[in-house]
Amino acid sequence: MDGFQPLRVAMIGTGYVGLSTATALAYLGHHVVGVDKDEVKINLLRAGKSPIKEHGMEELLALSRDRLTFTQDTSQAVPNADLILIAVGTPSKGNGEADTRYVEIAAQEVAEAFLPGRPYVVVVKSTVPIGTNRRVSYVIRKVLEERGLSASTPVYIVSNPEFLREGTALYDTLYPDRIVVGAEEQEGISVMQRLYRPILEQTFNPPSFLNRPAGYGFPPMITTDPISAEMIKYASNAFLSLKISFINEIAGLCERVGADVNEVARGMGLDKRIGPHFLKAGLGWGGSCFPKDTAALLAIGEEHGYEMPIVSASRRVNYEQRYRMVDKLQETLKGVRGRVIGVLGLSFKPGTDDIRESPSIDLVKILVERGAHVRAHDPAAIPNARKELEGLDVEFFSDPYDVAVGAEGLVLATDWSEYGILDLKQLAESMVTPVLLDARNMLDRGKAEEAGFLYMGVGR
Ligand code: UDX
Repeated sequence: MDGFQPLRVAMIGTGYVGLSTATALAYLGHHVVGVDKDEVKINLLRAGKSPIKEHGMEELLALSRDRLTFTQDTSQAVPNADLILIAVGTPSKGNGEADTRYVEIAAQEVAEAFLPGRPYVVVVKSTVPIGTNRRVSYVIRKVLEERGLSASTPVYIVSNPEFLREGTALYDTLYPDRIVVGAEEQEGISVMQRLYRPILEQTFNPPSFLNRPAGYGFPPMITTDPISAEMIKYASNAFLSLKISFINEIAGLCERVGADVNEVARGMGLDKRIGPHFLKAGLGWGGSCFPKDTAALLAIGEEHGYEMPIVSASRRVNYEQRYRMVDKLQETLKGVRGRVIGVLGLSFKPGTDDIRESPSIDLVKILVERGAHVRAHDPAAIPNARKELEGLDVEFFSDPYDVAVGAEGLVLATDWSEYGILDLKQLAESMVTPVLLDARNMLDRGKAEEAGFLYMGVGR
């Protein structure tokens, strides 16, 4: 096997995916230029500060400083790059379809900056509708034709979807389950092998704060055609969201028949064909990926006159779960109108300040809509939530114990680990009626009841 050969990489877009990937690649030894139009973001990054809350990001930015620079100007980053990765946003259009406008603009600007007489590899990392790689290829070809460079400047397009999770983005980049590469030409595949070699062979020294997981081997890199690569991303996210919706549907029945969904999930997960992950019943899924990607998949189906009842049902079950949880509280309290309800957790999952499509935020909105006054806490997401919930009858507190004071019901809505060690007795005693809805099945029923709570979980 050859030794490591660093590549010159341009990363277009420094959002979650772009920044995590750029930082990890620089840490691995590549020379990376991150490009973003957002001046504020670039200035922060130049000062070594992370614009996103992500475990280990600032530490890894510091360790990678010598090989990682940032610019607002695509034409500075592209000419000398061996590899250009496009990781700009693909927001949802009204009909659920992913908007590829920014991907196309990026592709055009990239092609405008190519130097004549040398090859380039352009990698699409953004999650894009099936067929976008062809479109990117077309946009680039058109620019090159206009510039009279078609013959002298070969360009190889690669699809390389990412599977990183917020909060563990760097960890997921360094220790992936698999790397997916969709390419028509061997030239593109070879460069991707060079790019990911330190990950594929795990030859890098793990940073102290991102330890290699015990028993982690070598991740496979699968190579396929670009269309299948694009589909792998959508199908994976749709399937994961489906697993959660499925267990939430089972949870509803568990409540009716007296089963405990945690026990059911444990028993199911031991079957290797099912697996234990993403079987945690709760308030449902949110975030920047599952909602957007399942909607985009349905939009792609629609475009082809193809119904996808399973993906549709996964979304329906998910959004109904928020109402089911409020209904549950409402039944116990005999209505929430005019009552004070405490809510613990506002981010879409723990470890992030991201509230995009957050089930907890929706829960707060439903509660307020039904006439409740909400007292809310979150360890990180209050500034974002404040903006999103502006004008609604919601108060924010920096101490989780404060949300319970004078409350008639308390909902644990996001499973932040700090909520698992709260003094339940103190919480219960400060409430008017100690009713607890553990919407993430995080707490021990026995302990909660001992502390004086009327405890309700999800599916148990
Ligand atoms: C997801 C995918 O996991 C990742 O591979 C993809 O690249 C982007 O989308 P992310 O959105 O960061 O990542 O969050 P994830 O950890 O997957 O959680 C998504 C949602 O599902 C959260 O709201 C979480 O609370 C919920 N969830 C997850 C459950 O309700 N139960 C589970 O068992 C797992």
